[in-house]
Amino acid sequence: NYYAILMAGGVGSRFWPVSTQDFPKQFHDMLGTGDTLIQKTFHRLAQLIPQENIFILTNERYNDLVFEQLPEVTERQVVLEPAMRNTAPCILYASLKIQKENPDALMIVAPSDHWIEDEVTFSKNVKQAFDFCSANDALMTLGIQPTFPNTGYGYIEFDKMTEEEIKSVNQFREKPDYETAKNFIAQGNFLWNAGIFMWSVKSVVDAFQRNQPKLYQLFEKGIAIYNTNAEDEFIKNNYPKAENVSVDYAIMETSTNVYVIAAEFDWNDLGTWGSLYDKLSKDKNDNAVVNARVLAEDTSGNMIRTKSDKIVVVDGLQDYIIVDKDEVLLIYPKSKEQDIKKVLKSVKDAF
Ligand code: GDD
Ligand code: MG
Repeated sequence: NYYAILMAGGVGSRFWPVSTQDFPKQFHDMLGTGDTLIQKTFHRLAQLIPQENIFILTNERYNDLVFEQLPEVTERQVVLEPAMRNTAPCILYASLKIQKENPDALMIVAPSDHWIEDEVTFSKNVKQAFDFCSANDALMTLGIQPTFPNTGYGYIEFDKMTEEEIKSVNQFREKPDYETAKNFIAQGNFLWNAGIFMWSVKSVVDAFQRNQPKLYQLFEKGIAIYNTNAEDEFIKNNYPKAENVSVDYAIMETSTNVYVIAAEFDWNDLGTWGSLYDKLSKDKNDNAVVNARVLAEDTSGNMIRTKSDKIVVVDGLQDYIIVDKDEVLLIYPKSKEQDIKKVLKSVKDAF
């Protein structure tokens, strides 16, 4: 009864110029290990979930990339979205398809772009969650011990009184402002949302029905034809009508049956060049290097990546991102990495 949905439709704009709309980060070997992020995630999930029950959710423009990189998957496993509407619509759509196939399914929903090395502990935590979800009407998430007021994450306030490993959640707050995040962390009973969810298909569909009735009604109209030849036409006409909303706002913030299990493994969401730098091994000058051959003098803390094994000579540069790809060379301070999204826009406007 185990199923997975792997979300692979984001654009990863802070990883420009490597990640682009035509070829987003999950389809790149960001870590320089020989596997792309989606391949890594698929194989991590395959240790827990029968391979044929892992569904890939992505925009239709990435269809070819998915089959190239995961030749083991069949068409049934690839759920294509004709428009980008964030994570809530695609999760509901895929859940209804899975429910039709197996009403007793237990599901994990995972992003395609995270770094998790300790796969044994990851599997252990997910199994604990599955056991809980099979016995309770629960929306479960994995929580990460926060280290600073990151405003790009969801925050989970858990019930201080519960001694059990699985804790009931008082409040789920997606992307709070800086002051609120600081305040949350000071209170001690808040975790970051890892963005990895576990639930029974029944619980998640119920949650959408309760909290997002409009979205639910839109996709409910297709139930009779899901998993048949008529499905594509229905989705092409209706998917674009869905509200653009993430699963975090759509059901996690608004539900009262949310539970969290604190992850016992190291986690990184590989959201920026700096977070990638943190996870890569460093050379003797503390530079993280992918592909390039680097000759460095008085140069440290840099993230250096070239497309091929290009020779890079640097002198006197600290804490920069140096990334080349085809016609683009980016040299940008790590401290301003969140602005790369905006840089990309300026570049598009300028050239
Ligand atoms: N199929 C599909 N379609 N996937 C999508 C879409 C879409 O329209 N939009 C985003 N995704 C995928 C991304 O590729 C990524 O793997 C995942 O869904 C999460 O989307 P992000 O855009 O990366 O979300 P986020 O980082 O802002 O926030 C989420 O993750 C944080 C942890 O990394 C939230 O769940 C936060 O609460 C959480 O803390
Ligand atoms: Mg993310």
